[in-house]
Amino acid sequence: MKSKVEQLRDKLEEGKLGGGQKRIDAQHKKGKLTARERVELLMDPGSFEEVGALVTHRTKDFGMEDQQFYGDGVITGYGTVNSRLVYVFAQDFTVFGGSLSETHAEKICRIMDMAMKSGAPMIGLNDSGGARIQEGVRSLGGYADIFFRNVQASGVIPQISAIMGPCAGGAVYSPAITDFIIMVENTSYMFVTGPNVVKTVTNEEVSSEDLGGASTHSTKSGVTHLTAVNDKDCIEQIKKLLSYVPQNCEDVLPKWPYELGNELREELESIVPSSANQPYDMRSVIDGICDKDTFFEVHKSYADNIVVGFARLAGRSIGIVANQPMSLAGVLDIDSSKKGARFTRFCDCFNIPLLVLVDVPGFLPGTDQEWNGIITNGAKLLFALSEANVPRCTVITRKAYGGAYDVMNSKHIGADMNYAWPSAEIAVMGAKGASEIIFKNEIAAAADPAKKLLEKEAEYAELFANPYTAAERGFIDEVIEPRETRRKLIKAFAMLENKVAKRPRKKHGNIPL
Ligand code: HXC
Repeated sequence: MKSKVEQLRDKLEEGKLGGGQKRIDAQHKKGKLTARERVELLMDPGSFEEVGALVTHRTKDFGMEDQQFYGDGVITGYGTVNSRLVYVFAQDFTVFGGSLSETHAEKICRIMDMAMKSGAPMIGLNDSGGARIQEGVRSLGGYADIFFRNVQASGVIPQISAIMGPCAGGAVYSPAITDFIIMVENTSYMFVTGPNVVKTVTNEEVSSEDLGGASTHSTKSGVTHLTAVNDKDCIEQIKKLLSYVPQNCEDVLPKWPYELGNELREELESIVPSSANQPYDMRSVIDGICDKDTFFEVHKSYADNIVVGFARLAGRSIGIVANQPMSLAGVLDIDSSKKGARFTRFCDCFNIPLLVLVDVPGFLPGTDQEWNGIITNGAKLLFALSEANVPRCTVITRKAYGGAYDVMNSKHIGADMNYAWPSAEIAVMGAKGASEIIFKNEIAAAADPAKKLLEKEAEYAELFANPYTAAERGFIDEVIEPRETRRKLIKAFAMLENKVAKRPRKKHGNIPL
């Protein structure tokens, strides 16, 4: 007869095997780690404490009472990542395909409640066949319990979802509500209705990968913010992301040791080309401004005419929203506005200061944009930045034209410090377009209209294609040499550290969704 302690150990050991060695081998064969291996990789060694390891389901239909697995297909608990507390759930595909039963959902809800009470990030490692089919509506109720908590936790604690296997049907809506999604290439997919239903309803033939794989969601839909080459890479990226964010909306930002030195950056002097229409990579400006190798770009392959991501400046986290002249000349369109707005709101929720880098020719014209709602969608970025009350600095490197000047963190919408480089052109539009309109008659009457246009263009550029008219008005706080940018921003963000900007009393704003 085994002692009581031995019986306990047996139960815990049995639980650690999930659905059994055969299913673990099948998981490995697909190139996937098990839920337990993922949790071990995520947490600091020895820090993970499991909660609810002996929970089993309560279903008696379809012979389920004879199929019991400790943990019921999800590992839940807490531990530390780089010495900071986090809560985690990891769905175990070896137990009923990681499907979500009533008790499985209860375990997730319990850990989410704990994360909320102690104000620590919640990380979900998803790998599930969806609703536990044998449980019907009890499973659906479980999903809704999770969705509700995701919404309550939004803006209170950071929520990160890794998709490391199937995630289909209504199950996709929990990750969709969280702050960041990261998908593993080739082994994960997300869709509301799978290829079979698509075929029945629309007669389209599409593979799971094409319909909802990591590549599709990182480039076409923008559903995922990050992609990983495998499970290990996915966990590494979660850790990296966590290093930039505070524990909750009232926590102070993580600070990395940094000693101020000579903060002038000569390389910033030669990035902007002399011609207004020549592209350059705004990431070089970001690299020149931020601490070395700290830029962590999110949503990289989606709407790449805007660049968003985290970085550190003198050891402190900042969020960056930047036009990208390399893609579509950095124009604002529907997708880039949504991308910029979403990232801005995350930073604002968690008190991460914002740096906005501007080189924007305006909003993208065309029927496609107008008919798909550039008005409503462009307003999202305007709304998000206007609403953000974190420290906000702007640097205009080149173009800041038209309405996009206002939107891109102008002084008028509440930015704290606005800088411009001498190469900045702050105007209603480019010199050519402006001359064609206001000197139309003069150009038409000229003996050589093309020559006249060039003359007028030069005249207009001389008058308006510069930062000085805006600086004279105080719309720009300082025109600075590019080399000074990092030093100026370090000082400005330090000065703004204790910024308090109260919002008017309201229930909540009504961002144009
Ligand atoms: C119960 C499930 C299950 C489920 C898989 N399994 N999905 N058990 N409920 N939803 C079990 C299988 O019976 C099998 O058990 C084991 O998990 C592994 O499944 P396989 O099919 O062998 O694996 P694989 O070939 O990799 O295929 C994975 C899969 C497929 C693509 C996820 O299993 C599948 O299509 N499952 C059904 C998906 C589904 O329709 N779910 C409901 C969606 S609706 P054994 O004993 O053999 O190991 C939904 C609504 C949510 O989720 C609404 C929220 C509001």
